[in-house]
Formats: sequence, structure tokens, C-alpha cells
Amino acid sequence: MKKILDLITDEVTKAFVECGYDAKYARVTLSNRPDLCEYQCNGAMAAAKEYKKAPFMIADEIVAILEKNPIFAMAESVKPGFLNLKIDEAYLAEYVRKMQEDEGRFGCEKSKNPKTIMIDYGGPNVAKPLHVGHLRSAIIGESVKRIGKFMGHNMIGDVHLGDWGLQMGLIITELRLRHPDLVYFDEAYEGEYPKEAPFTISELEEIYPTASKKSKEDAAYKDAAMQATFELQHGRRGYQALLSHILNVSVTDLKRNYENLNVSFELWKGESDAQPYIPDMVQKMKEDGFAYISDGALVVDVKEDTDTKEIPPCMILKSDGASLYNTTDLATIVWRMKDYNPDELIYVVDKRQELYFTQVFRCARKTGLVKPETELKFLGFGTMNGKDGKPFKTREGGVMRLEYLVSSVNEEMLKKITENQKSKENLDISEDEAKEIAKTIALAAIKYGDLSNQASKDYIFDIDRFTSFEGNTGPYILYTIVRIKSILKKYYALGKQVEGQITGAHSPSEKNLMLELSKFNAVMENALEEIAPHKICSYIYDLANAFNSFYHGTKIMAEEDELVQASYIKLLELTKSILETCIDVLGFSAPERM
Ligand code: ARG
Repeated sequence: MKKILDLITDEVTKAFVECGYDAKYARVTLSNRPDLCEYQCNGAMAAAKEYKKAPFMIADEIVAILEKNPIFAMAESVKPGFLNLKIDEAYLAEYVRKMQEDEGRFGCEKSKNPKTIMIDYGGPNVAKPLHVGHLRSAIIGESVKRIGKFMGHNMIGDVHLGDWGLQMGLIITELRLRHPDLVYFDEAYEGEYPKEAPFTISELEEIYPTASKKSKEDAAYKDAAMQATFELQHGRRGYQALLSHILNVSVTDLKRNYENLNVSFELWKGESDAQPYIPDMVQKMKEDGFAYISDGALVVDVKEDTDTKEIPPCMILKSDGASLYNTTDLATIVWRMKDYNPDELIYVVDKRQELYFTQVFRCARKTGLVKPETELKFLGFGTMNGKDGKPFKTREGGVMRLEYLVSSVNEEMLKKITENQKSKENLDISEDEAKEIAKTIALAAIKYGDLSNQASKDYIFDIDRFTSFEGNTGPYILYTIVRIKSILKKYYALGKQVEGQITGAHSPSEKNLMLELSKFNAVMENALEEIAPHKICSYIYDLANAFNSFYHGTKIMAEEDELVQASYIKLLELTKSILETCIDVLGFSAPERM
């Protein structure tokens, strides 16, 4: 369906052209004075210059035409030359009715030229527990992926595991110290390695920090770890077998964690998967004259004349020939292009890596790893801080594990629900159900709390505010959906056989609700264009508010005119569907009751 703003712009354009003015002046926007009007057009002000006429004269001419147009309930010119517009209620109701008929899409068309978009998010590091720093990438990336899917694109999410650094050598070194007799360390061994990993996830999560700490205090230990890393990267069989055990054990645990967050990936590739592509890539960069030796290291210049700040060269290989984070990212681009030929690559990573990605993108473009038309986008996110404004930590000052954070929000939510139930003396919710509900709301609290901020901004994780049922929060949105569900249930239980449909708005609050609903397609399109899930959050907040004022001002169940009542119900159904569609693309869901 055409966006409602475009439909209105079409009418205003006709009026401008009829009066002899250029169509470009007819652009209509949402009103920034909702107390005066719903839509506005400031074109007369701009046209005044070209046509050397007072803006209000132009505005008056346009109004004279628009006044006769049935799609407007009001067309007014306001000095010095603004055009203020209100839409006709029947026209609006018709638009909203058509949205409802368009099941599942609600007037939002899929993209006419679907793209293949690969999205790199999550980015956990193998053998290290997920911490809150990984939360944002997972939440934002998942939502961007879902928005893209909804808009009809082929979205491929890749977790891009950090599985190729010194951390692997550290684990191997520590394991060797503890269990020198394991077959993996016997260089003469040529048989098959055991299927079973020689450690569990909790051991793994203990081994890594122990080894990391030791390597900082003991130079010989660190050397051993570097040597192990080198041997692993150069194909030592026993170490490669250990690497697959580490990967398997870690990935199983990561999947479980991501599942709890309603986050999933199409691809579970890691840095190590890029290794086979490195030699050829490096060779070609050298042959093409892009890569050269500087201070022993192999680099590619990526600075450009228009740079206002220094962009250092992109390092491809260290002086000892070892590959780096950059090398892996570049070689990852190689296989992504080869296997999937994406039109676009989006990276959802901490914004502190922005300079790094500028180097990688420029290098990839310059050396021809991507096509000229391939888009490379960096979506950098800010830090999640505690109430003290400093990066979120445990009470003891350690790194906050993601699981711990999630379970503390779950507990807080369970407390609230239990209190809520008691106050309503509605104690028929079993303990198990209450736990399930708490989990669902907690996830909404966490995700909405994150996504409602522009991604690039830092934000404060405030558990009291995020879990509140009032204000701009996830639980408030869910509460609104649950409220609608409960009214609908009551209505359906009456078993009325009324063929209802949305008819004209019966009150200003109902019209306002329809106005909000009608924005849906424009909001979704814009959220993808700007890669901005927060736009969907602010939309559903406005929509939930519009619904709640309609609800408070309208006797829905007591309405005597059955057709009017049926129209209300249809409107409720549409509001519910749109809210549910939106929270689904944000990556959470609503319970049946709460
Ligand atoms: N593993 C990295 C980290 O924890 C994030 C990976 C981001 N993605 C990428 N393609 N570099 O910082």
C-alpha cells in the first residue's frame, strides 16, 4: 500500500501544479504541532522565493483547492504561509481497513528489489563466557536482521566466533600442564582422536582465565602459549583436534545462551574458517602492488586525500608472518563474497572498533575483495553502563556475565508479577506459569531497554526503570498487548455474530489511534533504511499510548450499538497485530496474561 503521507502529498501536488507551481514544493510531513493539525506542508514558503510572491498568497491559493478535496477534514493557511492539514475520518478509516485486509503485512510492501544482506553480529569469543558487552551486538543485530527479513530481503546472520587468537594457545598450554599424558600432546600419535572432549564447559571457562592470568605473570608460560598458537595455526594435528573440541563445547553453550535471548544465527562461522583464504589473498594483494613491507610488517595504505584525521595503514601480516584480527576479517570477506555474493555486509560491533572497520572496509574495496557496488556498513554501538555511569560490572567489580544479568532481571520480574497477582487477588497463576511469564517480560525489558536507544549512544542499564510497567519500557508495551488480548477474549466469549469492520472514527482519541496505525509501513521502511530499531520502539510507544487513551476514553464492552462495538473490536485486533509484528522484529514476544 502506498504510504499515507505519499497519498496526501499526491493531492497537495495536484493543487500546487493546478496553481502553476512546481510539484517539488508540495511535500507533506507529519505535523510538528499536533495540537493544530495532523500534517503540514511548508512548500509555500520555499515557493515564494522562486515565484516572487508572498508565501501566504500561495498558501491561500492552495487551500482554496484543498478545501474542496474530500480527503481533507481541514485545510488551513497560517501566516506567514504554512499549510495545516487534517485528514478526513472516513478516508482514514478506509485506509486502516485496507491495512487490516492485508494480512500479515498491514500495508507494508516487501522491497521490490530484494537484496542478500549478510549481517555480522554476536561476535562471542570461544572459551570465554558471554558478558554484557556481547549483549548489545546480539540484541541489535538480531533486530536488524528481522527488520530486513520483514522487508523482504535475504538476511544471513553470521556469529563470527572469535576462535583464532592466543586464547587457543593459552588453553592448550594449560591443558598440557594439567594432563600431559593426553594423546593430543603426543606428536608421534597417528591414530584417531577421541570423540569425547577432555573437558566440560565449566572447566573450559575456568581454564581460560587461569591461563590468561598466568601468562601475564610468567613470561615462559606466555612463550609456550604463543608457540602453541603458532603450531595450531600451522596445522599441528593434536592441537587442531583440541580446537574442534573447544569449539564444540563452546558453541553448544553459546547456542543455549543465545536461545534464551531469542537470538539465532544462520551461520556459525568463526575467524578460523577464514584461515584457508589468507595465503591466496595476501599473495594477490602483493602481486597487485597494494601490499608492501613497512617496518617488517605487510601493510596496505588506506588513507584518502579527503581525510581530516590520520587513518593508519591496514596491517595484513605481522613481521613474523602471523595473521591478525584484520587479516581474518579481510579473508572472511573473501569467503562471504565467494559463497554468498551479498549486496551488502553489515557489522554490528562496539563503536570503539570504528576506525578499525574504516581500515578494513577501505582495504577490501581498494584491493578488490568486494565489488564496487557492494555496500559495507558499520553499525557501531555504545557502551551499556551501570547507574554510576561506568561500564556495567558485578557488585564485586568483575565483568558481569550475561547469564547472571538475565537471571537477575528474571527474578526482579517474578517479584513484580507475584505482587501484581496478589494485589489483584487473582491467584490462579501457578508458580511455573509465573516463571514463564517473568522470563518473557524480562526479555522484553532487557531488549526494549537496549533497542529504544539509538544504537551508537551509551545507555544506562537501570533495572528498576526497565522492568517498570509504566513509561517507555518493554513491560509497558507487553501490558498494552495483554490488555487488548483480554478485552478481545471477553468480546469473543459473548459469541456475537456481527460482521464488523472499521468504520469512521467515533472520537478524537479513536482518530488518533488510527493516525498512529496508518504510519506502520513508513516506520518499517525507515527503520531499515536507517538501520534503526529504535524508530520501531518509539513508534510502538506512541501507538501503545494512543491505544491506552482510546481505551480509557471509550466504553468498549458497554457500547450498545453493535456495529460501532464491532468496529472498535476490529480496531483492537489491528492494533494488537501491529504491536505484535513490531515486537517480533525487535526480537521478543508477549505473554497471554501478566
Ligand atoms: N570477537 C570480537 C570481540 O569480542 C567481535 C567480532 C566482531 N566482528 C568482526 N567481524 N570483527 O571484540
